[in-house]
Amino acid sequence: MCGIIGYVGTRDVVPVIIGGLRKLEYRGYDSAGIAVVDDSGVEIVRAEGKLTNLEAKLNDKPLSGSFGMGHTRWATHGKPNENNAHPHRDCNGKVVVIHNGIIENFLPLKQDLQAKGHEFKTETDTEVVAHLIEEKMKDGTDFTEAVRKTLKELEGHYALVMIDGSAPGTIIAAKSGPPLVVGLGENENIIASDVAPLLAYTRNIIYLEDGEYVIANQQQVQVFDGNDRPVDRAPKRITWDAVMAEKEGYRHYMLKEIHEQPRAVRDTFTGRMFEESGEVFFNDLQLTAEEWAKIKKVHVIACGTSWHAGLVGKFLLEDAARIPIEVDYGSEYRYRNPIVDESTLVIGVTQSGETADTIAGMQEAKAKGAKLITICNVIGAAATRMADGVIYTNAGPEIGVASTKAFTTQLTAFFLLSLYIRQLRGENRDDIRYAMHEMRVIPHKIEDILKKQEKHIEALAHKYYKANDFLFLGRGVHYPIALEGALKLKEISYIHAEGYPAGEMKHGPIALIDENLPVVSVATHTPVYDKVVSNLQEVKARDGKLIVICDEHDEAMKKFADDVIEIPWTIEPLQPILTVVPMQLLAYYVALRRGCDVDQPRNLAKSVTVE
Ligand code: M6R
Repeated sequence: MCGIIGYVGTRDVVPVIIGGLRKLEYRGYDSAGIAVVDDSGVEIVRAEGKLTNLEAKLNDKPLSGSFGMGHTRWATHGKPNENNAHPHRDCNGKVVVIHNGIIENFLPLKQDLQAKGHEFKTETDTEVVAHLIEEKMKDGTDFTEAVRKTLKELEGHYALVMIDGSAPGTIIAAKSGPPLVVGLGENENIIASDVAPLLAYTRNIIYLEDGEYVIANQQQVQVFDGNDRPVDRAPKRITWDAVMAEKEGYRHYMLKEIHEQPRAVRDTFTGRMFEESGEVFFNDLQLTAEEWAKIKKVHVIACGTSWHAGLVGKFLLEDAARIPIEVDYGSEYRYRNPIVDESTLVIGVTQSGETADTIAGMQEAKAKGAKLITICNVIGAAATRMADGVIYTNAGPEIGVASTKAFTTQLTAFFLLSLYIRQLRGENRDDIRYAMHEMRVIPHKIEDILKKQEKHIEALAHKYYKANDFLFLGRGVHYPIALEGALKLKEISYIHAEGYPAGEMKHGPIALIDENLPVVSVATHTPVYDKVVSNLQEVKARDGKLIVICDEHDEAMKKFADDVIEIPWTIEPLQPILTVVPMQLLAYYVALRRGCDVDQPRNLAKSVTVE
C-alpha cells in the first residue's frame, strides 16, 4: 500500500504535494519521492525513509513548478531504498510514473523491453510502466494513446499516475484495484489515493471505479472506462472534516481496517501465486527442495492475534508438510528451553515486527541454530532484520489497536506458505492451482460478507451488548477463530469472553451456560460439522443464546440457532479468513454500543515492546 498524489494548477506544486503526502503517510513510509515539471524538464527528488528525509533534501535542492506528482512508499518489489523509491522514469527520463499496487506480469514485460534495449535502473515492478509507455511512443504515438495501449497490457492491480515531461500540463491516472480520487478545483485538479489531501483545495470529488482512467489538465478532467469510452460522472460533494477524511469517512480506524481486508488480502497474494504454472514465489524467502527436506519440525512463535494466526497456520502447514508443528506464545517460548536445532524451522509471526516477547523467542531459536523466517507487516522491522527469510503481509499500516487486517493477511501468508511447501514436496500442481483459484476469489467473498451482513451484525450487537460474558466456540481451523473472536470482543468492549474448542465445552465451560450467555459459534460445512451441531445442541438444551456463523442456505441451522450470520462457501483452509470477519464486526459494534474507545482501548498499546 502506497500513497500517491498528482497536481496540475496554478499553485506552487511542492507544498501541495508534500502537504498531501503528509496526509497519505499512513499508507507507507519507507521512502518518498516527488517529480516536478518545469521549463527545464522533469526534476525528481527521492529519499529513503520517512517524508522528513525528502523534505530535508528539498531544502537543499528546492524545486518549483505548477505540475507534478509525489509518492510515499510501502515496498512490495525491491528493497525500501532511495533507488527503488518512486517516481520512476523511462530511458529518456521524460515519462514518469508513480504507482500503488502490484503489476503481476511485470517480469515478462520487463524481459521483453530489455530485449528491445530498455535499461532498467530499479528492482520495482513500477518501472516497467514508464518503459512500456516510452516504447509505444517510439513510432510517434502521443502520450495519451501510448498510456491507453499500455494499460491494456498490464495485469494485476494498480493505481497509477503518469506524466510526460514533453507534454507538460497533462496527468493521466488509472485505477484497477487500489483507490484513486480526483478533486476538481478552480483552475487546478488534484488526484490522490484518498480524499484527505484534497480537502484543502476542493470538496468536489470524483471516485474512479476499477478499469477507469482519467486525463486531467488545469482546466478539465475527463474520465474514461476500460474501453476508452468517456464516462459522465458527477462529482460528489464531501462534507467530512479533516479527521474523518483520514479515516476515509469511517468512524474508527478499526472499521476502516475491517473494510480494507479485501484489498489487504489481495495485496498479500498478488504477485506470489501463479495459477498458470501452479507456482508460489516469495521475493524475500527462498527455500530449495533440498533445504526443505532437512527440516524436521516447525515452531511458530507469536503473541495475541498473531498467535491465533499461528494456530490456524499449524493446521495448514501440518497438513501440507506432514511434520510436527508447535505453536508457542513468545513469552513462554524461550523460558521453556525449547528443543531446537538446525533441522528446526522457526516462524515468528508479528504484525509490528517489534513485539519484545516474539523477538526474544526468535533470538533464542536463532541462537540454537534454527532456520528463522518471519511473517511480518512492517518493512525493515526488527523481526525482518534478524530472519533468514520474510513473508511480508501487505496489509498497510494498521492503526486500530485491535488487529483485523493484519490477522487476515497473516492467514493469507500461511496459506501461501502451505502451497509453497506442497510445491517443494512435489505435490500435484492441479490441486495447488485449484487452491490458488479459491484464494483469488476470497477478497470478493469478504466484500460479500461486509455488504450483506454488516447491518445485521450491528443489529445483533444491539441485541446482545448488555451481556456480561460471551462464549466463543469452534472446532478445527475455527478453534483459533473462536479465540480471536473472544480476544476482539474483550479488548475493545471490556466484556469477559472466552474462546473454546466446541468439543471441550462439556469438560467445564458448560457450567456457565444459562439464558444470559450468548454463545458465538462457527458451524460451517467441514468434516466436523455434525460434531459442532451436537455441541451446539448442548448449549441449546441449557437455554444459552446461540449466534452461529454458518454457510449460506443452511436452513436447518437457521431454524435451530437464535441468530445466524451466513457466509459464502470456500475450501476449509481458507474459511478462517471469512469466519473471522463477522467476529470483528460483532466486537466493533458491541464496543460502539457500549461507548468504548474502539481504536485506543484502555490499558493496551499497538506495539508491545516490553517483556
Ligand atoms: O505486532 P504483533 O503482531 O507482534 O502484536 C502481537 C499482539 O500484541 C497483538 O496481536 C495484540 O494481541 C492485538 N491487540 C490484538 O488485537
